[in-house]
Amino acid sequence: MKLIDAKKDQYRKLAHEQGFRSRSSYKLKEINKSYRIIGPGSYVLDLGCSPGGWLQVSHQISGNQGKVMGIDLSFVEEIPNVKIIQDNIENIQVVDEILSYFNRKADSVICDLSPQVSGNWSVDHAAQISLNYSAVKIMERVLNKKGNALFKVFDGEFSAEFFDFMKQKFLKTKRTKPKASRKPSSELYCICMGYL
Ligand SMILES: C[S@@+](CC[C@H](N)C(=O)[O-])C[C@H]1O[C@@H](n2cnc3c(N)ncnc32)[C@H](O)[C@@H]1O
Repeated sequence: MKLIDAKKDQYRKLAHEQGFRSRSSYKLKEINKSYRIIGPGSYVLDLGCSPGGWLQVSHQISGNQGKVMGIDLSFVEEIPNVKIIQDNIENIQVVDEILSYFNRKADSVICDLSPQVSGNWSVDHAAQISLNYSAVKIMERVLNKKGNALFKVFDGEFSAEFFDFMKQKFLKTKRTKPKASRKPSSELYCICMGYL
């Protein structure tokens, strides 16, 4: 077995053992340990949340004083005390639903959006970045000043522009690739702290 497959398996096995719905859960855990995007009591919005691994991790971190809401095109099985809606994040009307659930602005917006991949990297990269810009439009309406955000980025010709765009909106931004993310996948994470 190749090292990469072994690593993939290791996180899949761990997710199964610990009851998390995705390997990606470990990416969020790892990122949050270093950057504290989410804290106890945080109100968290998860855009592109299916099957729900990040929702589980967010709920675990934010605790009973926090509130977690997720949106995805696909159906997501219920998670106790987490609000899930099945909708398209390109539909800006979801903003009303978000604000009415939180009853105030959110402290953290996390996005792990992926388009249906075609296998053509330039096409998939462009589609993923475009989803991120749609997510930013929502973020701008619902994130508290000084709030934090996290965006997955398929790395490619438009990613530098996206990182620069986010840099203007936050006190601090950083790009990272968690250990739980497979080395050959051109997936990065944009960490954004302190919404201006
Ligand atoms: C990699 S998965 C997210 C995994 C999740 N973070 C977890 O840990 O379970 C990416 C998700 O983005 C969703 N997605 C893609 N385009 C979307 C859109 N326009 N609106 C809502 N969700 C979308 C997909 O349906 C998919 O479930």
